[in-house]
Amino acid sequence: MEAPREDWHQGEVVHRSRGGASPLSDAAVPLAVAAFNLPTRFEYGPGVGERAGELVAGLGAKRVLVVTDKGVVGAGVLDTIRKSFEVSGLKVEVYDEIVPNPRDTSVTEGARILKSAACDGVVGLGGGSSMDAAKAIRAMAYAPGRINDYEGFFKFGGLRPPIPLVEIPTTSGTGSEADAWAVITDTHRCYKMGMGDPALAPDVALVDPKLTLDLPPLVTAGTGMDALCHALEVYVARGATPVTDALAIYAVELAARHLGPAVADGHDLEARAGMSLASMIAGMAMSNCDCGIIHSMAESVGSLYDVPHGLAIGAFLPIGAEYNLASRPAKFARLAEALGRDVRGKHGLEAAREVIAALRGLRRNLGVPTPRELGLNPGDFEKLATFSVQNMSTPGNPRAIDETGFVALFKRAYEEHDCS
Ligand SMILES: NC(=O)c1ccc[n+]([C@@H]2O[C@H](COP(=O)([O-])OP(=O)(O)OC[C@H]3O[C@@H](n4cnc5c(N)ncnc54)[C@H](O)[C@@H]3O)[C@@H](O)[C@H]2O)c1
Ligand SMILES: [Fe+2]
Repeated sequence: MEAPREDWHQGEVVHRSRGGASPLSDAAVPLAVAAFNLPTRFEYGPGVGERAGELVAGLGAKRVLVVTDKGVVGAGVLDTIRKSFEVSGLKVEVYDEIVPNPRDTSVTEGARILKSAACDGVVGLGGGSSMDAAKAIRAMAYAPGRINDYEGFFKFGGLRPPIPLVEIPTTSGTGSEADAWAVITDTHRCYKMGMGDPALAPDVALVDPKLTLDLPPLVTAGTGMDALCHALEVYVARGATPVTDALAIYAVELAARHLGPAVADGHDLEARAGMSLASMIAGMAMSNCDCGIIHSMAESVGSLYDVPHGLAIGAFLPIGAEYNLASRPAKFARLAEALGRDVRGKHGLEAAREVIAALRGLRRNLGVPTPRELGLNPGDFEKLATFSVQNMSTPGNPRAIDETGFVALFKRAYEEHDCS
């Protein structure tokens, strides 16, 4: 195979070959020092969910609290997992009151149940909402105050709770099973609080694509856009390292290949397995590097309108990427390739811009709404901009932005059409 001949100096790239480019990060070039850490053990693949009971019992638990939601229970996913717990002799308490964009009040209630039922293990079963809630519930069963006191970085001081947490995703999107983040809605402020601390990271992630087979097409599309966005934002983020680059670019390739087929046929196990891996691997990268403004904007919209996280992400993905293009042209050109675009013979920004066409096409083909179709009210743009500036993902964005910049971006997003 012809060796890649790209010159990775920013803005000076002419792409001559496809498929051989190495995902070098900006940070790798000047011999930078970096670290990578994951406290979680991963077990993944079709059918691995049947081992849930054996695994949780092996961690020393006898009575587990399963944190989940009514949709997951209704889809029959809890039954599969419960059977495996019973075979392993585990007692099971179920708290299934989690709602999308999970609330601080549910965390308080879940921690109360955990303590009153004397559970010695926690299982988060569901999408990011149930998994994030499970992280926060386990932490708040042992930490003083309310979850609202722990917004931000390292507020738990890295102290891991004394009982195990196993996360079992039933969507392929958030990567919450692989990371040390949780997003919980402050119901008083109507604001999605981000928190990141090793204390929140699960002990084990059990990732079984079979548990996602009955996920409806639009939820598959939105959550899949979320996984793709994690990988894309981490790849170009200020905090990117060679290791996060390697994970992120592979996750983009997996999502580009498998998201369409997973939406078209939910029972395509290979596509589901591809998306489970994309989500998990993007989560690993995200655990070591925060996202950027696409998450800031989507979470602000999620705070105000309570729309599904993945759909908000999908809506803002093209405009957020476009804002960042000029700050990382070489990396965006590589992303365009990973998304399946032919960038041969294209220079710098011209190659990078292919990402935007790819993202708009994907959004349209998957039936994911544009920002206007999400139901945004232009009268809210200033409030959304204030929330977005405060969001903990904003400082990691490769290009700086202030409140005025966010207002302008919300306006542009509102005017955007898929054919533009
Ligand atoms: N911790 C992180 O790193 C991180 C990253 C991104 C997003 N998040 C957060 O995660 C939340 C979003 O999570 P999500 O997108 O996975 O959605 P979700 O957990 O809110 O679930 C969406 C819907 O899908 C249903 N569902 C889930 N699995 C199903 C299945 N197998 N079959 C049928 N229905 C099923 C649920 O009942 C729910 O109604 C948001 O609050 C977001 O802020 C966290
Ligand atoms: Fe996300």
